[in-house]
Amino acid sequence: MDEFIAGLPKAELHLHIEGTLEPEMVFALAERNGVKLPYASVEALRRAYDFRDLQNFLDLYYQATQVLVTEQDFYGLARAYLARARDENIRHAEIFFDPQAHTRRGVSLGAVVEGLSAAMKDAAREGGPTSRLIMCFLRDLPAEDAMATLDAASHWLDRMSGVGLDSAEAGNPPGKFTEVFERARSLGLRAVAHAGEEGPSAYVAEALDRLQIERVDHGVHAIDDRALVARLAGERIPLTICPLSNIRLRVYPDMRAHPLKRLMDAGVVVTVNSDDPAYFGGYVNANYRVVQEAFALGRGELGQLAKNSFAASFLSEQGKPDRIAEIDAYVKTQQAA
Ligand code: HPA
Ligand code: ZN
Repeated sequence: MDEFIAGLPKAELHLHIEGTLEPEMVFALAERNGVKLPYASVEALRRAYDFRDLQNFLDLYYQATQVLVTEQDFYGLARAYLARARDENIRHAEIFFDPQAHTRRGVSLGAVVEGLSAAMKDAAREGGPTSRLIMCFLRDLPAEDAMATLDAASHWLDRMSGVGLDSAEAGNPPGKFTEVFERARSLGLRAVAHAGEEGPSAYVAEALDRLQIERVDHGVHAIDDRALVARLAGERIPLTICPLSNIRLRVYPDMRAHPLKRLMDAGVVVTVNSDDPAYFGGYVNANYRVVQEAFALGRGELGQLAKNSFAASFLSEQGKPDRIAEIDAYVKTQQAA
């Protein structure tokens, strides 16, 4: 089954580029940029990856991002992820970045966006994956900061497909960003948001109603509200679920307790993603593997998850049937083998 998963064509829709910063790269960049780290070695840093909850993870994640300084750093970061994604048969990636995590340290938005988008262009030219950029606002900062970030990004809007919302969820409900998302949508940007990761199911409904998002990032706590699950299924609103992340951040004690299969069975468009793979113990294929093992999924169900990833993507509607047909063909040949 591991081989089947490895060969399955798929899209990744929930990936924070800053979360692909591997410890070795943290140390290499710290040295190159003269940034002092409070860890003696790569191993010591890796040992710190034992998280109690989302905030505890975010503290380390933002600390590590400080080694990212130049346009070249962002280029290298995205190139490394896209090479890895290609090895995992990811054909398309929709990549989050956190501009405020960099601009608040004095790094220019231009360095971030130019570096990332140059890497995305080069990777696509060299055989893939294709990719899109989604700019996330930090929800624990004031809405005014998010609005100022959106304004500052006006020069680079052609590089972005959409906006998102991330960072500490509890106490920062989606409604806080209603005007920012309204403005983003009026500028032609698509909208997604993290909701129902550590926050309650009510945040998922609020993100749909007030931010008018097209997909929910995580959204696992929707399982606590039957009517909401029926709505997600009925309106075909996809969830970008990140299984290893949910276990590492103790959203659920183990995969058996995870609602992914129940959501699938209820007809929700579920996708499998890696979130912050350098921190949570695996890239996309590792996430498919833990789901397969926990729920004894067959090739047809794994193929469905991969088909969902393209259906839920921001690829053009005309392009989707071919991608989906490719998965059907793959599943068929593998079943015959
Ligand atoms: N949740 C919220 N914010 C984040 C995450 C996450 O899983 N990863 C990076 N920023
Ligand atoms: Zn995330």
